[in-house]
Amino acid sequence: MPGKISLADKPTLVGANVLLRPVAVADAVYVARDDPEAMRLTGTHGHASLAALENWYATRAEHDDRLDLAIVDRSTGGYVGEVVLNDLVPEDASCNFRIVVFGDENRGRGLGTEATRLILGHAFETVGLHRVELEVYSFNPRARRVYDKVGFVYEGTKRDALRWDGQWINADTMSILAPEWAVHRGYPDGDGTAGR
Ligand SMILES: CC(C)(COP(=O)(O)OP(=O)(O)OC[C@H]1O[C@@H](n2cnc3c(N)ncnc32)[C@H](O)[C@@H]1OP(=O)(O)O)[C@@H](O)C(=O)NCCC(=O)NCCS
Repeated sequence: MPGKISLADKPTLVGANVLLRPVAVADAVYVARDDPEAMRLTGTHGHASLAALENWYATRAEHDDRLDLAIVDRSTGGYVGEVVLNDLVPEDASCNFRIVVFGDENRGRGLGTEATRLILGHAFETVGLHRVELEVYSFNPRARRVYDKVGFVYEGTKRDALRWDGQWINADTMSILAPEWAVHRGYPDGDGTAGR
């Protein structure tokens, strides 16, 4: 019988342009910076204090039901965002995924796509998860493009899931399953896999 699924291990995952490493207390200052675009697209209504954020980052390593990895731009060595596997249900080998890349200068450079593929590879090939799911707001076509590109499959729409600036916004749910990942490893359109 396979062992219990756990996210206790906090790995460093190295890609061509990004490196994913366990989050650290020092990352809190980047998260505390004002980034209205990131707040809107993640539906974040308010900031925690720096002290609360530092406490949050100081305690991530203690949790075996979630994995919080910082996205580091390898060209600068700087923190640019994070990818998270959370809401783990070990019995179902299932969890949620979320991502944020902070700063207009860091978005749209392929870093988010690469980080997503890296952590999904870890989720399916090392942790042994069967299902990874997410929600994406209907006003976020860039994130939707990334999720389609790496093989997340649309499941349905939660109506009026967010109220932002007085507007009701739908949230689409998507998931990717281990047998799908085994076929395409994040390249469902077949591109980028030559020589793999
Ligand atoms: C979503 C996010 C993680 C994506 O990471 P990123 O590094 O910016 O994205 P990438 O550069 O890897 O890829 C973006 C893709 O979207 C495409 N794109 C950009 N703007 C788009 C738009 N308005 N409509 C459709 N596609 C768009 C790009 O062309 C690219 O696709 P391509 O490689 O086929 O050309 C990042 O932009 C982010 O953190 N945004 C703010 C927070 C957020 O939205 N988090 C996700 C919440 S669900």
